[in-house]
Amino acid sequence: MNDVVLTGDRPTGSLHLGHYFGSLANRVTLQDKFPMYVLIADYQVITDRDLPGAIQRNITELLLDYLAVGIDPAKVTIFQHSAVPELNQLLLPFLSLVSVSELHRNPTVKDEIAHSSQRAVSGLMFTYPVHQAADILFCKGTLVPVGKDQLPHVEVTRLVARRFNERYGEVFPEPEAMMGERPLLQGLDGGKMSKSRGNAIALSATEDETAALIRKARTDSERLITFDETRRPEVANLLTLAGLCLGRSPQDIAEEIGDGGASALKRLATEAVNEFLRPIRKRRAEHTEEEVRQILTAGNAAARERAIMTLDEVRAAMGF
Ligand code: TRP
Repeated sequence: MNDVVLTGDRPTGSLHLGHYFGSLANRVTLQDKFPMYVLIADYQVITDRDLPGAIQRNITELLLDYLAVGIDPAKVTIFQHSAVPELNQLLLPFLSLVSVSELHRNPTVKDEIAHSSQRAVSGLMFTYPVHQAADILFCKGTLVPVGKDQLPHVEVTRLVARRFNERYGEVFPEPEAMMGERPLLQGLDGGKMSKSRGNAIALSATEDETAALIRKARTDSERLITFDETRRPEVANLLTLAGLCLGRSPQDIAEEIGDGGASALKRLATEAVNEFLRPIRKRRAEHTEEEVRQILTAGNAAARERAIMTLDEVRAAMGF
């Protein structure tokens, strides 16, 4: 079978090093092997908040991040939810294939509801995983590189594909999730790396901002630096970060620092990150907003063309 890769991000702010090592680096490898779509999931922004915020700005920044890390629009179709209305048309029959109790059981949705600051939970919160099935199935995606939190959504997609095929005849492949193998980066305060928690190094951060963030990172007072994830998670995380940037093992870096203490560790990590981000920052600065707009216009048109084909096939299979 010919594989097609589809993955995506919500445009809620700049991407950071956690995204880079967790998924962006992998995409750069995959783009040479498979036809690939990258979705800017703009409609999904309003699942856990009332307003889309600075949506255009965030989309532009996200695309600049993609270009900066080497995602190549000549190889990859980059597009937005809101530019492909056929996705919404696929949502409707797809919703008929899942039960309300299945929608309520989704652990990622439950977690997002628990962390949301919204006063009321919207219907979109429960149905967006089915919209995500349309995101994946419109191009007959077979490989979905995602983090662990997205596995329930890939399961929904498989369920939708299976049930559609059972009821209406073989139209969709059952896609597989692809999980990264890299160690998970934590934020600089030991929590989940997230822009809104102020503990993440954005790909677009300047050298000084990077240095300031690492200076503030939590460590401990033991002079001898060792890689011990259970007893010294914050120190281990800085070692992991430096290791990923340098392409070396964290243990090796710990040995090099020896009894230099937290300050030597932070100095090394700062240099490693800044060195690593230098070419990414440089590429980011080489692209203009005009170029970004053109890339999106072309990507949206290509995605839409693909979606129209699938929707036609769906309507025909269903007898509409
Ligand atoms: N839900 C994903 C996130 O929050 C974004 C996303 C939307 C996605 N549609 C997708 C990811 C399809 C993979 C495939 O990051």
